[in-house]
Amino acid sequence: MVAPRPRPGRLLSALLPILLLTLVGLPSALHAQDGDLALGKEVYDRWCAACHGWDGAGDGPAAGYMLPRPRDFTRGLYQIRTTPGGEIPTDQDILHVINKGMPGTTMPGWESQLPRRQREALVAYLKSFYPPFETLPAPQSVEFGRPGRVSDERLAEGRLFYDSIECWQCHGGAGRGDGPSVPELEDDWGFPARPADLTKNWMFSGGATVEDIYRALLTGLDGSPMPANSDLIDAGFMTQDQLWSLAHYVRSLSPERTPRIREVIRAERADPGEVPSSVGDERWEEVEPFYVPLVGQIIISPRWFDPAVSGVWIQAMHDGEDLALRLSWNDRSRSPDPAWMAWQERVLEVMEPREGDPVEPGERPDRFAVQFPPTIPTGMDRPYFLMGDARNPVYLWQWRSDQAGAERATARGMREIAPLDEGVLVTDSHWEAGEWQLLLRRPLLTEDGAGVLQFEEGVSIPVAFFAWDGDNSEEGTRGSISSWFFIHLEQEVPATTFVAPLVAFLLTGGMGLLVVARAQRREREAEGDPRADRPLPGAGSGSPEPTGTHPHPHPHSEDEV
Ligand code: HEC
Ligand code: HEC
Repeated sequence: MVAPRPRPGRLLSALLPILLLTLVGLPSALHAQDGDLALGKEVYDRWCAACHGWDGAGDGPAAGYMLPRPRDFTRGLYQIRTTPGGEIPTDQDILHVINKGMPGTTMPGWESQLPRRQREALVAYLKSFYPPFETLPAPQSVEFGRPGRVSDERLAEGRLFYDSIECWQCHGGAGRGDGPSVPELEDDWGFPARPADLTKNWMFSGGATVEDIYRALLTGLDGSPMPANSDLIDAGFMTQDQLWSLAHYVRSLSPERTPRIREVIRAERADPGEVPSSVGDERWEEVEPFYVPLVGQIIISPRWFDPAVSGVWIQAMHDGEDLALRLSWNDRSRSPDPAWMAWQERVLEVMEPREGDPVEPGERPDRFAVQFPPTIPTGMDRPYFLMGDARNPVYLWQWRSDQAGAERATARGMREIAPLDEGVLVTDSHWEAGEWQLLLRRPLLTEDGAGVLQFEEGVSIPVAFFAWDGDNSEEGTRGSISSWFFIHLEQEVPATTFVAPLVAFLLTGGMGLLVVARAQRREREAEGDPRADRPLPGAGSGSPEPTGTHPHPHPHSEDEV
């Protein structure tokens, strides 16, 4: 069978409206013709139809590149609602989604892109795709109650309901979206549906706050397998307050704040011999984690628009001899897992683009790769971030879940990877409850020749990350990638580096206070104030004298009384 040839112009034309949106920013002013509907149609055709389709059926030219698919508005099913499960949303609900977008999906927020009048006209136009909006009674928001305070007791109560309502069937015991039902889940249109990863609330499509979570739990996400729980309250199985406890519990599974993305990953300095060689070593608990988001590789063909791994936490430690990285990322299965074969088949069936050789469902391992330049670059020069090219190769550590150890390699592009000799990489890995932890450790310096990075302390060394989920059919160019980040190996801090700033501070700050104190004393002396002899707090005899080590004795020090 010959694979269909990719049509090069197609992807571009499909994504053009989105590109334009980012490039052009605000659309030119639009003119209303026959009220809201006409304006709504004009704005919709321009900004929404490429994804949602000209007839609102969720089948625009770009739709095939997305999972979840853009909403089909012709069935009146909306996820983000304040109305009971199965009912139509209020206008305000629809406007809210248009304003905020749906995090973790391709649905953008339009609040700052389109004037309010256009967004309101869009609401009217979207409703026209589902005629019952006109005849059904006006939708009513349900009673929400109040979140109340979080406490350990409430979190424990929430956990009890998480177990008894069996949220774990879909979301997994630790909430990483890895429950036993997942391989079979599909939405009302028959597309594979992934339960939210409850440890990443910034990717919840309806919002990250405890109120947003409560709404999702109470009214459900219509059209998706995520059920509403209001019937449990009506049936007396739980109270509204207990559902709030569950919402608090779910919120507690994510970090308190959305992780900030920092360009430089700090490798903390450990005492000699204190660098761990296992993922479970308790010394990792003390090491700061850095979050690096990953996105689907859509630059090199075959592209991949349905990446399963959305980010990796990195911890790094060195002792001047060895460097160890602990990489932790959420992955719903320990691939290859036969239970996921059905999932693979469905994903491969619905995901564009069909480029290159046809991809068959198969037993693929999970993989991870860490990329460095072969030598520490001077300035901002770095190899091409997708594993280098013929002229500028990269140095790679690559690991796969079906083999012991990890291997070092030289890559000249994503398809040109040549293993280097084995031996110096210490590896440890562990999968549990939807999370991989991987340790990679190497001496800073090796005996190798050119092509093998020699680590240095105190400089920022480029580093990039790649992840593949085998049970999501990922391998080769179809996986998740990061851009270049940096790793910085903390230098041993000579004692004087600590002392010098302290001395400088005491000299300038302390002496400054002395000067003020003296000036005040002189004033008081002049006024005959009895407190004249008392120094200001903190500016007393404890202030150090300027020492020989300080090059700039305080200019006023010779005034010392
Ligand atoms: C780049 C593609 C894309 C564009 C452009 C886009 N959407 Fe969406 N939209 C989506 C996807 C994908 C979803 C479904 C996400 C999900 O199911 O989690 C969605 C969902 C929605 C929903 C459903 C909300 C719910 O509660 O279920 C509304 C309403 C919506 N979009 C309105 C719009 C409007 C209006 C525009 C244009 C101003 C627009 N979208 C442009 C991709 C897009
Ligand atoms: C039958 C499977 C299933 C069960 C059971 C289930 N969920 Fe979900 N849940 C899903 C799916 C699928 C999604 C993602 C839907 C989407 O975004 O398209 C989801 C999404 C969510 C979200 C994110 C909401 C958002 O705004 O994106 C939260 C929070 C959540 N579920 C919590 C729970 C809790 C708590 C329970 C138990 C009371 C539960 N779920 C039970 C399948 C399930």
